[in-house]
Amino acid sequence: MIERLDAVELEEIRDDFPILQQRVHGKPLIYFDNAATSQKPRQVIETLNDYYRRYNANVHRGIHALAERATREYELARHTIAKFINAPAPETVVFTRGTTEAINLVAYSWARANLKQGDEILITWMEHHSNIVPWYQVAAATGAVIKRIDLNADGTLAIPAINPRTKLVAVTQCSNVLGTINPVKELAAAAHKVGALILVDGAQSVPHLAVDVQALDADFFVFSGHKMLGPTASGVLYGKRALLEGMPPFMGGGEMIREVSATGFTTNDLPYKFEAGTPNIAESIGLGIAVDYLQKVGLDKIRQHEKEITAYALERLQEMIEIKIYGPLDAEKRGGLVAFTFSDIHPHDLATFFDQEGIAIRAGHHCAMPLHKHLGIGATARASFYLYNTRAEVDALVATLQKAKKFFGACPTGRALGF
Ligand SMILES: Cc1ncc(COP(=O)(O)O)c(C=O)c1O
Repeated sequence: MIERLDAVELEEIRDDFPILQQRVHGKPLIYFDNAATSQKPRQVIETLNDYYRRYNANVHRGIHALAERATREYELARHTIAKFINAPAPETVVFTRGTTEAINLVAYSWARANLKQGDEILITWMEHHSNIVPWYQVAAATGAVIKRIDLNADGTLAIPAINPRTKLVAVTQCSNVLGTINPVKELAAAAHKVGALILVDGAQSVPHLAVDVQALDADFFVFSGHKMLGPTASGVLYGKRALLEGMPPFMGGGEMIREVSATGFTTNDLPYKFEAGTPNIAESIGLGIAVDYLQKVGLDKIRQHEKEITAYALERLQEMIEIKIYGPLDAEKRGGLVAFTFSDIHPHDLATFFDQEGIAIRAGHHCAMPLHKHLGIGATARASFYLYNTRAEVDALVATLQKAKKFFGACPTGRALGF
């Protein structure tokens, strides 16, 4: 039986998000910018408040009551998150400030130590800048070469046989523009066949669908807390234990050392070897509470809800001849977001018009400039959904597009779906 959120549950969820109760420009807020960052439930907000009011202290250092409680809650969050992604042990979960920092950690530590001239790093056209630029930097430092997996006409990956020169496949599990959900398990198997590793960018997948890093056989898996109901500056690098153990530290400082002498240092155990300095304590504890919240609702229910909202949005948007939607038109094959252009109206003008109606959408290149260039466009508008969005809000999106059409005097460009 398919489990879905019923109307009562949806209302209860919405009640947990104080920000959704407000009006923007005199209109009820409709928040469709979840791929940029999600809103936070009161449980997470209260956790941050509680930390600073009751037990603000540094972790792993003090022996007083506050420090012990802060350490306990911080490590409990690590346990919760490890179980959530089915990591084999909490030590394989390193707290970072987000996806970008986690990818940079692997790029500075593993890649610079292991790649050499002529080795290949395989990425895709649909990567976010944070899964492109660190590899450009690695290529410049080591002489490695960047290669890209091409796109099919429907915005899915045209997966090639992987070249034996490939040492790393770095791929997003879900595109933040096309919405495409990529077959990372198959890519991991193909990478491992030629002795390459795979790094999976889970920034747009972990918030929305159940992820099991062991079932995927991911070598590295990264994601951001702020896109999954957690605080900003929270995030995770998961890595296979043997890999993390073999890697040099990314940053030096307190916590990552076992001993420091007059001339050198030895490194701490996992995961602390990669958590130099005072970490993001409140944020990581808050992320643990966000994970509790997602698990209480149920990731399968969340995915089903978003699939239904996305399918409805795709259906309603396609009623308009002026729309061009990017990525697969089948909600099964995509996450809960839709990027589009609408007639000859610039996406920034559209986003400004939507804002006046209290609707937050995103416009621009969404930190995926190479993808937009590849598609021959400068920018798209993007509506991205989460567990608290409703069909009525999708109706408002469509009604606002129709209003924009009249306002801008847009001319029909003919139906042109997909690429
Ligand atoms: C697919 C993808 N990867 C990476 C990132 C970067 O995440 P952060 O800015 O939280 O580090 C984003 C953010 O939008 C994203 O959508």
